[in-house]
Amino acid sequence: MGSGKRKGITRMNIRDYIKQKKAEVLVERINSTRFQDFIKRHGRPLSTMFTYYECAMMEVETKFKVLDQEYSLIHDRNPIESIKTRIKSLDSVIEKVGKYGVPLTIESIEENINDIAGVRVICSFPDDIYTLAECLLEQDDVTLLQKKDYIRNPKPSGYRSLHLIISVPIFLEHKKRDMKVEVQFRTIAMDFWASLEHNLRYKRDIPEALSAELAEELLECANISSSLDIRMQRIRKRLSEDSAEIDEMIDSAQWL
Ligand code: GTP
Ligand code: MG
Repeated sequence: MGSGKRKGITRMNIRDYIKQKKAEVLVERINSTRFQDFIKRHGRPLSTMFTYYECAMMEVETKFKVLDQEYSLIHDRNPIESIKTRIKSLDSVIEKVGKYGVPLTIESIEENINDIAGVRVICSFPDDIYTLAECLLEQDDVTLLQKKDYIRNPKPSGYRSLHLIISVPIFLEHKKRDMKVEVQFRTIAMDFWASLEHNLRYKRDIPEALSAELAEELLECANISSSLDIRMQRIRKRLSEDSAEIDEMIDSAQWL
């Protein structure tokens, strides 16, 4: 390695350097005959697999849209701010197969990679997250496979979200197939924080000292943001208690 390159590495955040190297290895792998062969041999089953995941993702998205509508009928407000969906790219799937060291076959991908289909539900208040998760899991075609509660147990970075891996059936021409979907629930504030922190995580060329300083500040922001979420939820509850009281008064006045 030339001295110019080495100098570059010392300036570059070491974590980013490793990430870049990993990406280079991945590109090499994807271009390698083994991976090209896999894609060539399994081209059709691979695209079928991705289509099935997309169908499962749509099923779950629809479930949330229905829950949101029903909630607004009963409680006069929508708990869901927005829903984002995404299918993992083939490159990222292959990268995970390499990271987990599992066989490169369709069956192994389906068995070991849980987040090919992803649905992110952004809620207004923390309580809405648990209400929606409970409503989803009560449905008799939904099976919970894994739950990670990073709201009650935030990550050391300050990251907060509720993650579920569920299995839902999709109904095809002559068969039913269970597919895995990762569901992430966050409040607007948690989502805003995660996007900003994600930027720092993937930003290159940040000196290590600055990166550590920003990570510390982000952790502080996550804690402030969490207490803000709780305070605003308290305000909303008091408001709805008040309006329920007023509704009751109006109701009883009508009897007079
Ligand atoms: P992945 O290999 O990243 O999927 O990790 P995992 O299988 O251990 O799952 P985990 O539930 O910990 O995280 C899954 C996803 O949550 C990640 O791909 C990110 O989208 C998000 N996530 C987890 N931790 C963090 C974090 O500290 N910061 C941000 N911004 N996002 C995070
Ligand atoms: Mg993931």
